[in-house]
Amino acid sequence: MNGEGIPLIRRLEQNRGLTREEWAELIRNRDDESAACLFERAREIRIRHYGHDIYIRGLIEFTNYCRNDCYYCGIRKSNANAVRYRLSREEILSCCETGYRLGFRTFVLQGGEDGWYTPKRMAEIISEIRTSWKDCAITLSVGELSRDTYRLWKEAGADRYLLRHETYDPEHYARLHPAGLTAANRQRCLWNLKELGYQVGTGFMVGSPYQTPENLADDMIFLKRLNPQMVGIGPFISHHDTPFAQMPSGTLELTLFMLGLIRLMLPKVLLPATTALGTIAPDGREKGILAGANVVMPNLSPPQVRQNYLLYDNKLCTGDEAAESLKDLDARMQKIGYHLAVNRGDSLNVE
Ligand code: 5AD
Repeated sequence: MNGEGIPLIRRLEQNRGLTREEWAELIRNRDDESAACLFERAREIRIRHYGHDIYIRGLIEFTNYCRNDCYYCGIRKSNANAVRYRLSREEILSCCETGYRLGFRTFVLQGGEDGWYTPKRMAEIISEIRTSWKDCAITLSVGELSRDTYRLWKEAGADRYLLRHETYDPEHYARLHPAGLTAANRQRCLWNLKELGYQVGTGFMVGSPYQTPENLADDMIFLKRLNPQMVGIGPFISHHDTPFAQMPSGTLELTLFMLGLIRLMLPKVLLPATTALGTIAPDGREKGILAGANVVMPNLSPPQVRQNYLLYDNKLCTGDEAAESLKDLDARMQKIGYHLAVNRGDSLNVE
């Protein structure tokens, strides 16, 4: 049967939510007809709130040292083949300078959980960026820290924090992470961040090993509860030096479907067409935009370290993925009727 999911898609748009059973059914039985209907609705909603603007964020991957050992991740601590690097405070600031000149008004400092950057050292970097670029948003994405550390960084001038919940279900979470890392702690961090007044981004991998439609249903229900300003999702892509080297990657098709569902559930959320999406298909990001996404995050790291921040195989870091080629990226987006916006790109999703 074709287009079987359309009644559920209409209900989702109306109620901005579904039951766990409905989510799982809609995801499990999806087909091209339902997807076409979903993307059409998702685009309409996206355009209603954000027009044809695409928000940009400059991603500065400042360290690939990590104390964690997540089974899926290429920069996990046990990967002895990873070529490790850290950017100095000066190098980070110089990325911001380049970024500002290129038109970025949001800097995302992303890294592994690297103790070299103590809470105090990070705070100093944050306040320096805050002082130098007053009209820019500062986003952090450096993992699970104490509430006090999150507060220190907020007070130093950070505005936003990205921390994917990865998967809501504790058992599924335990199959993707070593003992000691728990879904409960991850989620606690997110609630802390929110309470401290950060604009929060969370998200998950699509097609991660052992993931079921029920897991994705739980992810949707968690997103609804947390109501974050941003949701980052992308396909799981295997990395050859990890325990999941032989696991199949997630698909473009399911990732696009999930993007559309998120747009219908959280109409004003910021939804990036992620690097992983661009990696899995040459036109992945365009398709993501056409499925309801409204953000792209080009790479602003110094070119010589880019190839070392390898979370998964073949991760894009050149061409239109590079911050220097914003013009090319804009040209690609214009081809599908959208354009890059030079502003902070704040979420309309405020409580
Ligand atoms: N494939 C896809 N995404 C990955 N991430 C880490 N490893 C992989 C992988 N192999 C994602 C995680 C993390 C984000 C920074 O990158 O979801 O939160």
